[in-house]
Amino acid sequence: MEKIKSSEITPKSLFLSRREFITGLGAAVVSTAFLTACQGTGLSSLPSAAEPSDKPTSYKDVISYNNFYEFTVDKDGVAALAKDFKTSPWTVVVGGLVANPRTYAIEDLLARFPPEERIYRLRCVEAWSMVIPWLGFPLAKLLKEAEPTSEARYVRFETLYDPARMPGQADTSFDWPYVEGLRLDEAMNDLTLLASGLYGEHLLPPNGAPLRLVVPWKYGFKSIKSIVKIDLVATMPVSLWMAASPREYGFYANVNPDVPHPRWSQATERRIGEYTRRRTLPFNGYAEEVIHLYQGMDPRTLF
Ligand code: MTE
Repeated sequence: MEKIKSSEITPKSLFLSRREFITGLGAAVVSTAFLTACQGTGLSSLPSAAEPSDKPTSYKDVISYNNFYEFTVDKDGVAALAKDFKTSPWTVVVGGLVANPRTYAIEDLLARFPPEERIYRLRCVEAWSMVIPWLGFPLAKLLKEAEPTSEARYVRFETLYDPARMPGQADTSFDWPYVEGLRLDEAMNDLTLLASGLYGEHLLPPNGAPLRLVVPWKYGFKSIKSIVKIDLVATMPVSLWMAASPREYGFYANVNPDVPHPRWSQATERRIGEYTRRRTLPFNGYAEEVIHLYQGMDPRTLF
């Protein structure tokens, strides 16, 4: 796999303002968005996201411990089963309630919206977490180009459906394809990325190649992988997980240590590669950037 130099993917302004992290793999970089998150929430009732040991998870763990049910429900088994998954040619169809619907070949999409590096925490609903240096571009850029009409309220995402290539789709207990959704203002938030790489490399199939969503303040299941379709819609999309178990998986799925999952607590998490459990932060530590999206809403309905 061809290695992308971070000087090629990081805009110069970010490149100049970056701060080095010491990691097992050498120096990673921190984007300005991450530094903002690290400067604390500014809200006295919310803990600061700054943690000196909050360093990127090892590349090996990031690419070998995965949730990708289209291949298998076994987190340690995805990498082997997805190894030969072909992600070229690949198209992404953007449509629905937009003035400018378009079908992009993946290489044209990435040339049009060059990825930048952002280091985000990813908190899985199963109470494990990672810190990943993503290469991605704000979803807002793509949505602006599509020009949502005034009726558009939500964005609906779909993963490829191809049981011949994704053996887990033979499991009929799920209503494939994998679907996820965001409210339009959540989708337009600058933290929300479409990622095509991590750790300076192109995404590998287990992490959702060639294009996946990354929404760092929500549980990991919202970050849908291997996207083929993005539609602007008027009504709240029903995600695969909402359809599978509405009591356990909601539309908002904002990380909230105070609202337990019906079967386990969400108060703490196991950071992959660490022994001591960490306290889970409200909105996964990104409250400052996103809390305004939920003013007046009951936090318990935000799962
Ligand atoms: N997207 C699809 N299409 N299928 C999946 O099974 N799993 C989700 C999310 N995106 C999933 C998906 C869950 S539960 C998590 S925690 C993250 O992907 C895991 O991303 P990672 O394997 O890159 O860490």
